[in-house]
Amino acid sequence: MRTFVIRTFGCQMNKHDSERIAGLLRAQGMRAVGDAGDADVVVFMTCSVRENAVERIRGQVASLKALKTGGRPDLLIAVGGCVGQQEGEGLLRALPHVDVVFGTHNLAHLPALLESAARTRRPTVEVLDSSDTFASDLPSEREHPWHAWVPLMVGCDNFCSYCIVPYVRGRERSRPIGKVVAECERLAADGVVEVTLLGQNVNSYGRDLYGAPRFAEALRRVAATGVRRVRFATSHPKDLSPETIAAMAETPGVCPYLHLPVQSGSDDVLAAMNRHYTKDSYLALVERLYEAIPGLALSTDIIVGFPGETDDDFAETLDVVRRCRFDQAFTFIYSPREGTKAAALTCSVPGDVVHERFDRLVELVQASALEKNRAYVGTVRDVLWEGPSKRDESMLAGRTDTNKVVHAPCPAGHSPQSYAGSFCEVGIEAAQTWFLSGFLSGSLSGFLSGARRA
Ligand code: SAH
Ligand code: SF4
Ligand code: F3S
Repeated sequence: MRTFVIRTFGCQMNKHDSERIAGLLRAQGMRAVGDAGDADVVVFMTCSVRENAVERIRGQVASLKALKTGGRPDLLIAVGGCVGQQEGEGLLRALPHVDVVFGTHNLAHLPALLESAARTRRPTVEVLDSSDTFASDLPSEREHPWHAWVPLMVGCDNFCSYCIVPYVRGRERSRPIGKVVAECERLAADGVVEVTLLGQNVNSYGRDLYGAPRFAEALRRVAATGVRRVRFATSHPKDLSPETIAAMAETPGVCPYLHLPVQSGSDDVLAAMNRHYTKDSYLALVERLYEAIPGLALSTDIIVGFPGETDDDFAETLDVVRRCRFDQAFTFIYSPREGTKAAALTCSVPGDVVHERFDRLVELVQASALEKNRAYVGTVRDVLWEGPSKRDESMLAGRTDTNKVVHAPCPAGHSPQSYAGSFCEVGIEAAQTWFLSGFLSGSLSGFLSGARRA
């Protein structure tokens, strides 16, 4: 077992867990490679939030079978994350060539499980109900030297009726605030310029530990560590407090970007989803946010085709999208998840109706995104470069503090990669639906004379 590949699906929590696994395997003397064909171990970090996510993973795992039977019998395949947690040993029935199944609570045991599977040449399964240790206290290998995921909490207590997450990630558990701040101080000293604080419901951070939420305080204290950009995900509308809005408005390092999933605009659907807010209370919250935080960018998640969703219900969702001026919306077709409350609902919406609604929603979301982006044209923005653009490797790609992707030509004689982790002022010339185009403006000389921070 000398080399490994990790394939990650799902949310940022999984990305973070994958970085921990990379750190653990590296600590065992193993090396990361890019291709499963060169790897001794392939780890899948899986997501079970929707059925199509699960299908994709099953397909990829199955396609490795050919490698194993075609001359690589020692190749070890490990499946972890939320599908591992949910299906456990059952995964081996569908995918008998998997060697290790692990869950969301026992990342730290992966090296031992791999070792056991290699030694015994038998599949090894370990899934725990919960764990006492935070994955964050394990070694980690950051994907980008300039960015870090920092978990504030794991698990979720909300039990939205459609959602599997509380079942695969367990109950909410917060990390002590001192540990979070100390980690961010270390990261800042290590050249990290952007942290993303993670939790399924960050606004209730601290409730289990301190009896009352301390998210606003966490934001202010993390920003005070000197990390230049502080991001966070995800916020539940029912728990977004005035204190948090004030902390966002008053703390320069906290990015003016908020992901605030609305899920639906219909009060009946929201009630059936167990979301604990109404269309009007969501709209009022959004107005307060725009007033308090100038230039705020707002994104959301929306589910189409929740059981019983009528044309009128869906019209309310479109109305919310029109009125909230979202910068982005992640739109999902409802997928029943076994074990959740909504899975028992029989009033499903016919597929063609769902698809027609979905297309109308996407069109409206795109128009909203383009309109928000157009307001950037002619302004100068602080951009954190991430490296070459995926569309054109000779171009730079980065993000504004509002999470807009920006493309700009890379100055001659420099590689886009060499800019990764550095900030630059960019003049925005053009807006597309999902990105902005610009040019490096005045501070380029500052950049070249050492403003680089990575
Ligand atoms: N904790 C976060 C995100 C959880 S999953 C939050 O509460 O916002 C990300 C998104 O997936 C959800 O916001 C929801 O829009 C979507 N989702 C979750 N379960 C789903 C299901 N069964 N079918 C379709 N979409 C779902
Ligand atoms: Fe799922 Fe709701 Fe928890 Fe988000 S808040 S993870 S949607 S149960
Ligand atoms: Fe998916 Fe698990 Fe995240 S189900 S969305 S990877 S918590």
